Amino acid sequence: MDERMEKRLIAEAFEAQKHAYTPYSHFCVGAALLARNGKIYRGCNIENATYTPTNCAERTAFFKAVSEGVREFEAIAIVGNKEGVPRGEGELCPPCGVCRQVMREFCDPETFRVILAAGEENYRVLLLKELLPCSFGPEALSGEA
Ligand code: THU
Repeated sequence: MDERMEKRLIAEAFEAQKHAYTPYSHFCVGAALLARNGKIYRGCNIENATYTPTNCAERTAFFKAVSEGVREFEAIAIVGNKEGVPRGEGELCPPCGVCRQVMREFCDPETFRVILAAGEENYRVLLLKELLPCSFGPEALSGEA
């Protein structure tokens, strides 16, 4: 993937972050998921008064895509910071363990790229296998492992 696409995904993640529903944590996350067919699915975190139903931005993006029949992905960009932090001045926001496992369900750990961004000029790209080593995936149940 070229640098232009990385920056485009980061910009889309910042757009998604604007819709974060975070009345409890005030921590706003945005994600932009690039499918192999070229489409980009945006997601934000969506909290709940009973806390546990909260959905992370990354899973929102994945579930939007999968619910529309799309299951092959190349990369995801993630941005996250406390409400009110100016764009580009936050820290990197690594995905939680549950989201890493959801990525593992649909993505090749050897090639899927996770772009952790604080801004278009301040980001780090990791492969899924680096974020989730020694993982359990769908092949284990299909007998292919
Ligand atoms: N959150 C995400 O959306 N993605 C992550 O990977 C980390 C955490 C959200 C969940 C919750 O709404 C808030 O950030 C604080 O945990």
